[in-house]
Amino acid sequence: MSKLTLSPAWKALAAHRQKIEAANLAELFAADVSRAGRFSIEAGELMLDYSKHRVDAETMRLLAALAAQAQLPSWIARMFAGDPINSTEARAVLHVALRSGDTRFPEGFDVMPAVRGALESMRRFVGEAHGGVLRGVDGRAITDVVNIGIGGSDLGPRMLVRAMRKFAKPGLRTHFVSNIDPADLEAALAGLTPATTFFIVASKTLTTVETLDNAARARTWLEAALGKSTGLSRHFAAVTANIEGAAALGVPPERVFPLWDWVGGRYSVWSAVGLPVALAAGMDAFEELLEGARAMDAHFRNEPLERNMPVVLALLEIWCVNFFGTQTRAVIPYSEDLRDLPAYLQQLEMESNGKRVDRDGNEADYATAPVVWGAAGTPSQHSFHQLLHQGTRQIPVDFIVVGHDGKPSAAQAALAANALAQSAALAFGAPAPGAPHKTLPGNRPSSTLVLKDLTPRSLGALIALYEHKVFAEGVIWNLNSFDQWGVEHGKNLARALLPKLLGGADTAGLDASTRGLLARLRRRD
Ligand code: F6P
Repeated sequence: MSKLTLSPAWKALAAHRQKIEAANLAELFAADVSRAGRFSIEAGELMLDYSKHRVDAETMRLLAALAAQAQLPSWIARMFAGDPINSTEARAVLHVALRSGDTRFPEGFDVMPAVRGALESMRRFVGEAHGGVLRGVDGRAITDVVNIGIGGSDLGPRMLVRAMRKFAKPGLRTHFVSNIDPADLEAALAGLTPATTFFIVASKTLTTVETLDNAARARTWLEAALGKSTGLSRHFAAVTANIEGAAALGVPPERVFPLWDWVGGRYSVWSAVGLPVALAAGMDAFEELLEGARAMDAHFRNEPLERNMPVVLALLEIWCVNFFGTQTRAVIPYSEDLRDLPAYLQQLEMESNGKRVDRDGNEADYATAPVVWGAAGTPSQHSFHQLLHQGTRQIPVDFIVVGHDGKPSAAQAALAANALAQSAALAFGAPAPGAPHKTLPGNRPSSTLVLKDLTPRSLGALIALYEHKVFAEGVIWNLNSFDQWGVEHGKNLARALLPKLLGGADTAGLDASTRGLLARLRRRD
């Protein structure tokens, strides 16, 4: 048994679970007319309603005690102090510095001059691009920017460019390519003019095969149309911590935007990895995004645990996962502009806390990160909501609703009405006497997050909220949320298999299934 599951706070929660297991949400609401207000939190542009979770005041007190037992406040302080809490890579975790307004931060080793320098270069470059100064090898102004990157170097900017669609600046289009499948680059380049197309090669390590392959194919595409010339470097920028690698790619030094080892890929959208966002919506909008996240950082650092929005979200997840055995969580943004959010959160949450060995090197005897999945509402209602309402599994849901500053159009109001209806139906169900197939059992947990409006500021706060939720879960589950060793072995196997697939190299030593699949793939009849 681990320290965690033997701990007093955990045992108290397990005992409490026995008591509250039979509680019914409808009864909990009937018994407490102020329940909705009691179990909701406002933080700047965001409001969280978690009253439709199977919790009462005692539950929240016991959960906050679990966070206190894990010394969450001091872990938060250690992150903001730049301590090397990414222990297996001996690195600090300072994505918060990218949105810090402090002149000097953190005290121990000041990274703000570098951060401000990078923001300055971004602002200069965005100004050139919007001012028509950014020109290709034949002097024509750039009209299309293609971001080549994967994982944290793709999902964040891709999600935000779509989410900030309303703020898009005219004149420049952005495109995203991540997959090694050549179809991805082909589709992105279809209809583009090489002379007016610019590529951002975004990769913290610049060792990622997909990104290097796509960058090479992009150069070939340019050369095919514009000839082999050194001028082609005018069509490339790089965002990376590997400055030598960028030089090797032929990217001019003034077009290399830095990243640092104290920024995790999946936490990097606040850096120059967000360049496509600034190009699409403008540098002012990008800085509003940073401000929104900064406000959530202040909330996370200062609010008491039980009124701290990221901490409460983390504790609700632990309550569901570890005490009610849920295995997945659905994220359903009722916003077409936020439709890439579930994919973004999959990497953030599952690459951070999808781990079975704790910080002390012991195998965890408790569940860690659930499978995060989702899609935009209302299309999701016509897809998997049947299972959410009548399936045999409890699937907690995060509904995300945009408030449009209280002035929604009729269609926007209908969208929000559907989100509220879905969370109510999950919570309170609907009996159908004599027609069990029509009955909704209800008592299914959900949180609803309301954004005042879909603005760069509220988006910044929303993402920082989930980043800090993941941080709090990692601390309580005693995990290092900032490494991802599990992804390397598959990459190495793929590297070794490629020549066997292409060149027919010897397959001795491979398992029979892989050998069989290779043989099938190599067969040409
Ligand atoms: O393979 C996983 C990963 O390392 C992610 O953590 C990262 O976001 C992604 O690959 C891309 O890495 P890079 O930015 O170094 O190309």
